Amino acid sequence: MCGIFGYTGKKEAQGLVLEGLKHLEYRGYDSSGIAVQNGFDHLAVRKTDGKIKRLEEILKAHPLKGTTAIGHTRWATHGTPSPQNAHPHLDHESQIAVVHNGIIENYFDLKKTLEEEGVRFRSETDTEVIVHLVSKYYKGNLENAVRAALRNLKGTYAVAVIASHEPGKIVAAKCDSPLVLGLGTNESYLASDVSAVLEHTRRVIFLENGDVVSLSGGKFQLTDLAGKPVSRKTNVIDWDVARARKGGFEHFMLKEIFEQPEILSAILKERASGSRIHFEELKISETKLKRIKRITIIACGTAYHAGLTAKYIFEEFTDIPVWVDTSSEFRYRDAKVGPDTLVVAISQSGETADTLAGLREAKKKKALTLSVCNVLGSSLAREAHGVIYTHAGPEIAVASTKAYTAQLTVLYLLAFYFAQIAASGPSKKLAGLLKEFIRVPHLMQNILDRYKRDEGQWRENAHDFNVRYHAQLEKYFNADPEKRKRSPNGFFLYLGRNINYPSALEGALKLKEISYIPAEGYAAGEMKHGPIALIDENPWVICIAPQSRTYDKMISNIQEIRARGGCIIPIVTEKDEAIRRLDPIYVIEIPPVSEIFSPLLVIVPLQLIAYSVAREFGEDIDQPRNLAKSVTVE
Ligand code: AGP
Repeated sequence: MCGIFGYTGKKEAQGLVLEGLKHLEYRGYDSSGIAVQNGFDHLAVRKTDGKIKRLEEILKAHPLKGTTAIGHTRWATHGTPSPQNAHPHLDHESQIAVVHNGIIENYFDLKKTLEEEGVRFRSETDTEVIVHLVSKYYKGNLENAVRAALRNLKGTYAVAVIASHEPGKIVAAKCDSPLVLGLGTNESYLASDVSAVLEHTRRVIFLENGDVVSLSGGKFQLTDLAGKPVSRKTNVIDWDVARARKGGFEHFMLKEIFEQPEILSAILKERASGSRIHFEELKISETKLKRIKRITIIACGTAYHAGLTAKYIFEEFTDIPVWVDTSSEFRYRDAKVGPDTLVVAISQSGETADTLAGLREAKKKKALTLSVCNVLGSSLAREAHGVIYTHAGPEIAVASTKAYTAQLTVLYLLAFYFAQIAASGPSKKLAGLLKEFIRVPHLMQNILDRYKRDEGQWRENAHDFNVRYHAQLEKYFNADPEKRKRSPNGFFLYLGRNINYPSALEGALKLKEISYIPAEGYAAGEMKHGPIALIDENPWVICIAPQSRTYDKMISNIQEIRARGGCIIPIVTEKDEAIRRLDPIYVIEIPPVSEIFSPLLVIVPLQLIAYSVAREFGEDIDQPRNLAKSVTVE
């Protein structure tokens, strides 16, 4: 997500805004900028791509005087990282400046209308439509102009505006992107998150959706979009900066797990309006996609598990055969791909060396290539023939969570898109599935709300595992050395079937990469072919068994495990009474959902199991040992 910081008061604003932007750097960005207003009729902007250091150098050479300013760190979603696309954006008379965090879904139509009215755009961003709308509606009152402009927008925004004709004033608004008001003495602050204002004030107001605030010195007026006064509670924050950056969560990983419903909703809102699917940035024609006879997906780690899930999704909605390969294997095989193949490269960072090499290999073989990335302008995004962005915002924790479910969401929509093209238009079945799909983020939120309510129990269960795990070790080490056969199997086995077999792999990866406890994901149908030999009272077996066509098979697996004394933790659909007769250690429930969408729900408890165990063992959850967020070397 982008970062916004604003100041109005009696002090020189430039230095304060720069420091505020530095507090927001952790959110990830690719460019930055600042607009300073200095008395009547003077507004100046400095902005650049790259790190804030570069902006600082520019300001050292060309400082901006003034006591009112807005600044921005940009995480690109529309328009590659460049000085032109960096914020703040100015209107055509350079009298109004805007910074924005979010996605304007209808910017294309708004831009078209504004261009027809003679507006000349300077950037490729969706944000720029906002400043031209404010200018269009400006009749001498900035608040009214901002409210009128915002009433045209569809999408998400946190926005801040200053104007050369209204000295000392900042007008800001919020809809689905965070914005916090910091209240000082004869001065006010604005920021995307509270960590950036804490060094100045602990008195903050968390703006709500629809709020529009006008700041001037230490005074503020709060209204709704219609201009009706609104009142909000002033909070006194006792978090330290580190805690504040995590939005009050203990770790970035937990914060990002909780961001998933909002991100999935935004993706669905942006790409599945009505019953049609659209990918604006795709840049591959429907004609070309219609010629595709097969799909090969390449990726690493969590992205690979998203690819494996996509195989089941595509085979459910289309007649196109799908192969899935880890990038490191694909690149060294003589893979049979060619002009009739679409090679889909999935990568959160867009910089994973093996996936990049695999993409280049595919292009050499004349395959059509598409990357599914989270980082705009990344190598994979630039080198593939087409790209679809997941818009999950920066993922700080090394263990991927929100990027995974965002990848899955995009892959569902891509499969729907192929079905839509093949049927040359949305079908009734597709419309029905889309209706259910749009409810999935709400169901995901239910699971998270339940976790919040039962967090104490989750911690107790993780502690219970810790105690059992060490009891096994003690039993082993206290045993007569002569009688010792092998160390106890203190590890986790994850079992899933069909579309949740990749969920089992992903659940195991989450646990091992942050708790360092051995964990293995397996297709449950494979148990009899070897893994069941592992079962005694030791391993904990996570059984993914929501209502599905393979539910009865999963129950048989569970019975076989119980018969050998194995400990089971089933993930089932709510109100599943049968499972309780199998004496599970705990039962984790998810809301009812069609089997095809169940991976988006079962993954949440799998992420929370990994998080709870790693937290119990006191590991460095956000930065696990030996791992990097992006594996840019082979
Ligand atoms: C997942 O939690 C890991 N951090 C890792 O497996 C990761 O998914 C893999 O390195 C791929 O990264 P990418 O999506 O940036 O290509």
